[in-house]
Amino acid sequence: MNNLIRVSLQGDDAALRDLFERSGMVEIVDTAPEVLVWSLPHDADGLPAEMRIALADTHGPAIVALTDSHPSRWFDEALALGVDEIVYLPQEPQSLGMAAAKARAMRSRRASMAAMAPASAKGHRSAHIFTVFSTKGGSGKTVIATNLAVCFARQGKRTLLIDFDLHSGDDALVLGLSPRWTILDLVQSPGDLDGEKLAGFVTRHSSGVDLLPAPTRPDEEELVDVDRLEPLLAVARQSYDAVVIDTSSQFAPAVLLAIDHTDSLVLVGASDVPTIKSLKIALETLELLEMDVKDVRILMNRSGARVGLDDRDVERTLRREITYTLASDKAIPISVNRGQPVVIDAPKSRVAKSFYDMARSLDAVVGSLR
Ligand SMILES: Nc1ncnc2c1ncn2[C@@H]1O[C@H](COP(=O)(O)OP(=O)(O)O)[C@@H](O)[C@H]1O
Ligand SMILES: [Mg+2]
Repeated sequence: MNNLIRVSLQGDDAALRDLFERSGMVEIVDTAPEVLVWSLPHDADGLPAEMRIALADTHGPAIVALTDSHPSRWFDEALALGVDEIVYLPQEPQSLGMAAAKARAMRSRRASMAAMAPASAKGHRSAHIFTVFSTKGGSGKTVIATNLAVCFARQGKRTLLIDFDLHSGDDALVLGLSPRWTILDLVQSPGDLDGEKLAGFVTRHSSGVDLLPAPTRPDEEELVDVDRLEPLLAVARQSYDAVVIDTSSQFAPAVLLAIDHTDSLVLVGASDVPTIKSLKIALETLELLEMDVKDVRILMNRSGARVGLDDRDVERTLRREITYTLASDKAIPISVNRGQPVVIDAPKSRVAKSFYDMARSLDAVVGSLR
């Protein structure tokens, strides 16, 4: 995966450009930058107007100021407006690359804090976001996300399930629902999003779970403007106690956004070599992308099938403990075909009990993370 930091230099400076590029971490771009770099003399009177405008945009690129020595007049203003990094020149290429990386990470943290701020400021609820992900199709993400959502609703939580498998999500099918609206209708609706509007687009399941389903047809995926999903998550946080996000098997933009806003990430694995390999790569990718999810849990699905890998082998390979295991049970495909989550369809089954235990354990972590 190409993870070069997209840097745009304000003002043409060939030597600087060369230094950044030699870090090997940075790509100098004109469009869609992640980091904007200004070079300012230390004795400049103030910040350039364009820089002030850029600093005001919490969802915009990160801002780095380069200067030749301690700035006299603009230092306080730059800090007050939230400049992400101030770097004194000269620097080695590597240090410039690191400064860009750090600025980018700071910025994304700030944007997500800004998105959450209204919830706490107004004393509203602030949901815990759970994302269920794996890089393998058919690993059980949808089964797990839907059943966990139902368990949370049964615990009395106001629960929203969002299907971020925008290409071929089937949460509605698995819940036996025929929704009138999908996430595409919501993001395409004019005007700002608020809790009331969100409530108008979700479909209520008999368990109490509200579902925001994926688009109906695969070709509609590209019509979903990912920029509108971030406000959606912010509003969802304010309106619910628990938000469960089902995903696709790719690091698609919507999935990355979900993971970036996730409090607890449930990574689904299985005891076979290709799945473990892809799980390991997924974990490494999350690290590379500097997505420090507070709470990552590994769920081994269809465990117990004796196929050569035992849990210890898996834990050694992943260098992580397995948090949950879910047995292989035909009650699951039966429930899927009936359009009723197994925790409702076969509440006495072993797998239903596993889901309730999982939901209780996840519930316990919510308190401890706050
Ligand atoms: N523990 C399990 N035991 C038996 N079948 C399972 C189990 N977990 C998932 N399945 C089946 O595997 C299929 C794929 O699961 P699904 O949740 O749709 O995967 P994903 O969303 O990751 O693509 C479903 O038909 C489901 O019934
Ligand atoms: Mg699925």
